[in-house]
Amino acid sequence: MQVERKICFPKGRKLRIMQVSDVQDMHFVRRAMVEMLECAYDALRPDLIVLTGDNIHGNHLDENRLGMKTDDFSVILRNMTSALYHVLAPIEKRGIPFCMIFGNHDDLNPVTKQEQADLYKDYPHFFGLNSDEPQLDCDTYNVPIYGSDGEKIVFNLWMLDSAGKDDGTGSGFEYVKPEAIEWYRRRSDALRAQNGGEPVPSLMFQHVPVPQITELFIPCGEDDPNAVKWRGADGLPYKLDQERADGYADEYPDVCDADFGQLDAIRAQGDVCALVFGHDHANNFTCNLDGVHMIQTPGASFRSYGTARARGVRMFEIDENDPWHFETYTVSYYDLMGKSLRSRFSFFMSADEYDYKRAVTFGAAAAAALLGGAAITVKHLIRRKR
Ligand SMILES: [Fe+2]
Repeated sequence: MQVERKICFPKGRKLRIMQVSDVQDMHFVRRAMVEMLECAYDALRPDLIVLTGDNIHGNHLDENRLGMKTDDFSVILRNMTSALYHVLAPIEKRGIPFCMIFGNHDDLNPVTKQEQADLYKDYPHFFGLNSDEPQLDCDTYNVPIYGSDGEKIVFNLWMLDSAGKDDGTGSGFEYVKPEAIEWYRRRSDALRAQNGGEPVPSLMFQHVPVPQITELFIPCGEDDPNAVKWRGADGLPYKLDQERADGYADEYPDVCDADFGQLDAIRAQGDVCALVFGHDHANNFTCNLDGVHMIQTPGASFRSYGTARARGVRMFEIDENDPWHFETYTVSYYDLMGKSLRSRFSFFMSADEYDYKRAVTFGAAAAAALLGGAAITVKHLIRRKR
């Protein structure tokens, strides 16, 4: 299938970009998430989808349903192919262009990032790595977006790897590499030169937030209703500073282990409208930190931790004639699926936080069925004896 390799603004309306983050599922998926994403694609009709890491639960691909593990590389690769299919096939089926970066969970397995990127390239609507644009590595690249006439680059996406190393171990050191920042400066200069000396407005996506984001979290009392549910390493209660950020946070942020001058580079280049993160599944806010607009997007995963208000997707709507001033908003599972009995049941059956309650519910139901069956049998035997 031959697909147009250039993304352009649509004529007569805004460009719709959907960010889908932390899908983080396996070769056997949680149905509620698939239903939610399919509903999002159909209801919100994105022109482009950006997968911002932890696109699969890469460190659990060695498991099967019954919990047994394998170290057979070919089985892990097959499971990865299947896990990616569950995420990518609904996008491909709808003919929506998409691009991706990796997160820490994509990487924690014996398959290299390049081998994994090659699996994405099998999908005709996958963009970015299939283009002729210079790239640093298999998840550090940019996606230019042309005007509706297809002539000039009007907008741009920076896609930065923040997942650190690629050595197949279970421990990660997460950061945006110094060479990635240098590459960004060079490409940004090149785009500016092509644009008559003016910076090209851009969104910069990376999986793990920059360390500076923790400045937005302030100590609070143990019983503060806005205290995060998932605390940081010090175990103390914090909350999002509502004076400096717009949105909510249910977890203390997990951030890059090091910063190599990324924010300085962004300020100097002057082309980033917003720096956009995933990784912290339960946080959803926007802020301006030291002159850089930042956006935290919650996760979509039902297999990993999350909340009912957070699980969902983020939209960006960008006007070709005023690309610096875009709109952004998130849409949650219940926004998309409604609060019917069916959607609530599907949520209960899929969400990670209900694992224990599901086990208790089904265990109790099975025990009741067994007891009921035994009682009927005993009654029947007594009757026969009489
Ligand atoms: Fe992550």
